[in-house]
Amino acid sequence: MPSFRSATGQPGRGHPPEHWGSSLGFVLAAAGSAVGLGNLWGFAYRASQGGGGAFVLLYLLIVLVVCLPVLVAEMVLGRSTGHAPLLAPITAGGRRWAPLGWLYMAAAVGILAYYAVLMGWTGRSLLHALTAGLPADMAAAEAYFAAISSGGDAVVAHLLSLALTGVVVAAGIRGGIERLSRWGMPLLFLLLLGLLVWALTLPGAAEGYRTFLLRWDPAKLTDPTTIRNAFTQAFFSIGTGIGAILAYAAYLDRRSPIPREAACVVGMDTAVGLMAGCVTFPVVASFGLGDVVSGSTVGTLFIALPTGLASLGASGRVVAVLFFCLAYIAAITSSVSLLEVPTSSLIDRLGLSRRFTVWLLVVLIALLGLPSALDVAVLEKMDAVFGGVVLISGGLAMALLLGWGAPSRFLADLHQGGSPPALVLPLLWALRWVSPPAITAGLVVSVVDLVRSWSG
Ligand code: PFF
Repeated sequence: MPSFRSATGQPGRGHPPEHWGSSLGFVLAAAGSAVGLGNLWGFAYRASQGGGGAFVLLYLLIVLVVCLPVLVAEMVLGRSTGHAPLLAPITAGGRRWAPLGWLYMAAAVGILAYYAVLMGWTGRSLLHALTAGLPADMAAAEAYFAAISSGGDAVVAHLLSLALTGVVVAAGIRGGIERLSRWGMPLLFLLLLGLLVWALTLPGAAEGYRTFLLRWDPAKLTDPTTIRNAFTQAFFSIGTGIGAILAYAAYLDRRSPIPREAACVVGMDTAVGLMAGCVTFPVVASFGLGDVVSGSTVGTLFIALPTGLASLGASGRVVAVLFFCLAYIAAITSSVSLLEVPTSSLIDRLGLSRRFTVWLLVVLIALLGLPSALDVAVLEKMDAVFGGVVLISGGLAMALLLGWGAPSRFLADLHQGGSPPALVLPLLWALRWVSPPAITAGLVVSVVDLVRSWSG
């Protein structure tokens, strides 16, 4: 079994030669992976598709009871094997788990291919808000969105975003990813807090919360679309199930308290999702943009917000610049974690140099992302398949591997890290008895609902 190798191609000692500078560095990078466009864009549009309070409740339940144990398992798999996502499942469970490593690779590459396109739109919106101002009305907003989301502009922005991601990942764990997260995450929180205070003062704040986040209809708890939205949002937002956090955890110290770190990541991610909802819905309600938001998967961020903010004049422009700045930081701290999955896997498996691997992958992913950059409909399908079904399946396989295939590894690693049995045993219980059936049920409902929505 090849072990992790250094950039010079020298075999490692089973554990990667790179390390996080500190436990905080790891937590910020993992939270950076979780907090992304999914929180700012996904939470708002999924919450607005009619689920209201039922969606928020289901989402919170899934995050706490289903995703948290899977996230702990993912961290354990990375740290205890010291391998990247391609080889870690084989080390933990034997050869028959090899397809899982390939699933992680496919999911990360598939998501990054369209995620970089969304990131490109975010960068273009930021530039547009800085230089040309905001669209004055709905027609101008739609024309503006059409311009940034297709054709040459979208392709260039997609390529630039991938290149920027490549620069950070090529600089390594400590010098690239950790450094970015250390300044990016605090800045992101600061910007979001400022925007939240501003949004609370808008005249439509209470109505926005009532209409989109708090409206309570118990029938929605069993509505297939609400269930699919809650599952997809929870897994995509935490980003567990495709090996990104596993790749990061392979560089983790043996003694760090994984359950506490996982709880910090989940807490920060959920807080940002809820805060982002608390920023977007007052804007939507104050400027009468409800239809735009629920009618399109991309509406909230790229059409509704700039249009709403435009009517505030110069101050609206400042808010738009801050919002898209925040979104771009959130996006890049996530895209680097997606690129780290195939990068660390190829380094681990083939002993290639980090720099060569990164740029090879950037070219490949740029090509795979072209159809999404040229056609929004392709992007939406990629999101439903890779960001939904494949991601959730990866989470299910992770729960089965650590819960049933290698439970002793789970216990031993957490024990060695100093976690008390009173915490570890319930986590293992949830991983065995709660996550697999809940994820299977969510997956079945999601696939049926997705097929129905595509065929209808
Ligand atoms: N969690 C990120 C977001 O909310 O935008 C997206 C993501 C990152 C998904 C990393 C999966 C992943 F492995």
